Amino acid sequence: MLSLTNKRILLGITGGIAAYKCAELTRLLSKAGAEVRVVMTRAATEFITPLTMQALSGHRVHLDLLDIEAEAAMGHIELARWADLVLVAPATADFISRAAHGKADDLLSTLLLATKARVAIAPAMNQAMWADPATQANLELLGSRDFLIWGPASGDQACGDVGPGRMLEATELATHCAELWKSGAFAGRKFIITGGPTREAIDPVRFISNHSSGKMAYALASEAADLGAEVILVSGPVSLNTPDRVRRIDVESAQQMLDAVLSQIPGADVFIGVAAVADYRPAEVAAEKIKKSSDELQLKLVRNPDIISEVARMNNRPVVVGFAAETEDVVANGKQKLAKKNLDLLFANHATDTFNSDTVAVTAITANGEESLPEGRKEVVARSMLNRIAEILNSKRKGHAA
Ligand code: C5P
Repeated sequence: MLSLTNKRILLGITGGIAAYKCAELTRLLSKAGAEVRVVMTRAATEFITPLTMQALSGHRVHLDLLDIEAEAAMGHIELARWADLVLVAPATADFISRAAHGKADDLLSTLLLATKARVAIAPAMNQAMWADPATQANLELLGSRDFLIWGPASGDQACGDVGPGRMLEATELATHCAELWKSGAFAGRKFIITGGPTREAIDPVRFISNHSSGKMAYALASEAADLGAEVILVSGPVSLNTPDRVRRIDVESAQQMLDAVLSQIPGADVFIGVAAVADYRPAEVAAEKIKKSSDELQLKLVRNPDIISEVARMNNRPVVVGFAAETEDVVANGKQKLAKKNLDLLFANHATDTFNSDTVAVTAITANGEESLPEGRKEVVARSMLNRIAEILNSKRKGHAA
């Protein structure tokens, strides 16, 4: 099955009869997990309607450079920045010529100049137009600028000729797209990550909580998504922006965090428990604000569920990765926690060093041993952590195959 999870594909349609194949192409790309936005030249709208493309992509189709409304919603520079890949299909001889010469006289040609994304074109034209030295010279120019040129195929043409110039089929183009990202280590993998603190209500205005900025969990979520994973971040209250391409579920209490994790766990390949979950919660939550009437206040606390242990106990469980922030005997305590919670991997660090800090130094602990990772910014350390997780995922896969 093709995987394009989280990928953003800007599909540029120009005016050729093969434009009809874009309906199926959009459906295939979306089915593979990509988000597709469509830009059409005026000529393209003579072959397939913007309404069809809007219905299939689920987004408004972009037609004009100077459309005030469209620019207000997602301007052309924003659209150019948004894309991971710009795919022009079909790419007519005229469009190829304009792209080769850096024209910016309509929306699609302007986007090509403005984008830093990869650009792929799927030429479609009459075989004689294809063979013409002008077209070939233009293609050579585009190739030298790192444009990907997919096709054309040879065969019967709409005009009755036979020869090269047919646009590739939708399935072939979708496969080319997927191959571009095949190297993403986590393509097709589903990650669930908990992060931030939990809050356990005492009364409507007070709560018990832990120190946790959420930075480590958010860095892991962002890096895993970059490597192609589908990432669900179950987050306690933090003041961080949701990383790109990550689905965030906001929760407050440990029980809510557990419920959210359990609802998402089917099909997960990796669970990473980074959250600083409160170990106890008040046995009862006062309905009204508790008054300061006496010098002492007794709170009865009860144990919260241990989310990571619940996940580790499941049949058919994902790879389970935990964290241990300790104030003493970091590695020894980490080892104990790995065994007690039945984890595949645990990252241990010194608790007070890490709160709110942008850098971290951790020791990776598995049943086979331990290794300290070089201290660095949380984003950089997140990459090293994910490399360890990739090794475990790969060894499990090999284990299955054997
Ligand atoms: O709090 P503790 O040191 O036991 O945390 C170790 C690991 O267990 C962490 O990965 C944390 O996210 C997870 N945990 C959890 N649910 C709890 C307590 C901890 O998932 N109630």
